[in-house]
Amino acid sequence: MNTKVNITNRAGASFPVRRMAFEFDQVPEYWMKGSAGLTHFMTALSALFPAGEKFFIDSVRAVRYHPAIKDNQELQKEISAFIGQEAMHTQEHVGFNASAQKYGHDVERLDRYTDKVIQGARKVFAGVGKPFGITQEMVDLTATTALEHFTATIATQLLRNSHIQELMSDDTMKTMWLWHAIEENEHKAVAYDVFEGVFGQGTKAYLLRTSSLVAAMLTLFVVQNYFLFRLLKEDKQLNLEAFKAIYTYAYSPSKGIITGMGREMLAYFRPGFHPNDLDTVSLLDTWKAKLGF
Ligand SMILES: [Fe+2]
Ligand SMILES: [Fe+2]
Repeated sequence: MNTKVNITNRAGASFPVRRMAFEFDQVPEYWMKGSAGLTHFMTALSALFPAGEKFFIDSVRAVRYHPAIKDNQELQKEISAFIGQEAMHTQEHVGFNASAQKYGHDVERLDRYTDKVIQGARKVFAGVGKPFGITQEMVDLTATTALEHFTATIATQLLRNSHIQELMSDDTMKTMWLWHAIEENEHKAVAYDVFEGVFGQGTKAYLLRTSSLVAAMLTLFVVQNYFLFRLLKEDKQLNLEAFKAIYTYAYSPSKGIITGMGREMLAYFRPGFHPNDLDTVSLLDTWKAKLGF
């Protein structure tokens, strides 16, 4: 692995915070096997992370000292490590996004747009929920919980789907996405445990978390595809070859990363669901060993 890793576990949580130092200088423009379509698909996802992960951190921070969980020492340690991991992800995605910007792909504008969408959406949903006694904190945390389920599920796909791993032909980018994928699974239960700790497991909490998953997925789908369209259009790559590659990579029934997520995404609708029901322990052990963590 061509990067330095600094692993700390100051929080004493069940997972560590790894400080990575990826060098993006040598990353080629189309680092997904020379494909503009696939590279822009991943860049459109990466553009969502800095503002998105800051939102996750803020949402969890806002309620971490709620009376229902403030004395839960174990959960408090997990929260600290969760914040540490997400902050490191943001840092590295900012680094990669800057390298895409260097090639003339305007990720900075997409990053600002992501923040506007998040801030706008959280206000709208808080307004809709207010008559039902749903607070801004509830909206933010349930959106985070839903999006964390999405990130853990897509991360599992990255770790399981060898077709996708073969397409990530640049070593630095491959390692970055796999590192992020491992950590999304390591901390996948934290926001969920905070949500349940604060808002319980009743009918209201169930309706809130499931409806927010639907709303979050629709928003994410529209925004990520809009970003993809813009990146392709501005790069003059709106062509059949790009669409075919994106279809196979993301949506084909046998190999698609998005279609492959279906069953695990639906598990979230099960009453009594918990993120750890989806067992990824041995998958993570394998990848941690491969990456030398
Ligand atoms: Fe992350
Ligand atoms: Fe996360």
